[in-house]
Amino acid sequence: MNTKDLPIYFDGEHYDAWTEREVDIPFYKKQVKKYGDPVLELGCGTGRITIPIAREGFDITGLDLSRELLRRAKEKAEKEELDIRWIEGDMRKFSLDQDFNLIFVPFNTIQHILSLEELERVFEDVKQHMKTDGRFIVEFFNPDLDILNRDPQEEHEVMEYEDPNGEGKVKITEKTSYEKAKQMLHLNWFYNFEDRRVTKEWTSRIWFPKEVDEVFKYNDFETEHKYGDFDESPFTNNSGQQIVVCKKA
Ligand SMILES: C[S@@+](CC[C@H](N)C(=O)[O-])C[C@H]1O[C@@H](n2cnc3c(N)ncnc32)[C@H](O)[C@@H]1O
Repeated sequence: MNTKDLPIYFDGEHYDAWTEREVDIPFYKKQVKKYGDPVLELGCGTGRITIPIAREGFDITGLDLSRELLRRAKEKAEKEELDIRWIEGDMRKFSLDQDFNLIFVPFNTIQHILSLEELERVFEDVKQHMKTDGRFIVEFFNPDLDILNRDPQEEHEVMEYEDPNGEGKVKITEKTSYEKAKQMLHLNWFYNFEDRRVTKEWTSRIWFPKEVDEVFKYNDFETEHKYGDFDESPFTNNSGQQIVVCKKA
């Protein structure tokens, strides 16, 4: 298994250094308390969310495609003596010997799944692994038209972080180009190190709100909540996120 199509996940230390996001962790802890364990996180990365949930004593499994990110996740969990099952695998085809009360795909990870056929394979396997009354939570960005309409030649700042190998500051900038007919946002991420610049290309599938609602409906999920933010406020025109909480119809 490799991450050649997702080169931004090349290194767990770098991932942890640039991922400052914490706003979603209390939300997922709350959902686990509400719906119960065992829990499965698809696309768990370095365990940014998995580990805080395990710390609260819940039974959680993390599955990810990136060996590099999983290595970092395992190392962090072992340091804390947390019993987490880590699986190197692809959410587009997985088979585990367990069913779950909660399965979630956080941090817009589902937008790495580029075709409907692949997404429907994820959905099928998720349904196979859900307990009868289990829940499935998936997050998508609410498309930002300013980003989609950008000039592809313009370079924009994404973030800056401290190089984990002590090489000073790394600034990530990006150029984006939106392929309207396919609803694909193509990104070039530039890692600007003090002495060099490394380019990583990746693509994100853009999902407009009504298609999100429909793809769950027509894949036999019943949406119970659609939140617009991690405070569980309802999804509206100005929401940054589309957070779907559903069960099997
Ligand atoms: C945005 S990161 C999220 C990581 C972690 N959940 C977090 O919130 O920090 C997306 C993760 O999904 C993983 N991923 C992408 N496509 C995948 C697939 N088809 N199967 C499993 N993991 C995948 C990547 O390797 C990466 O670790």
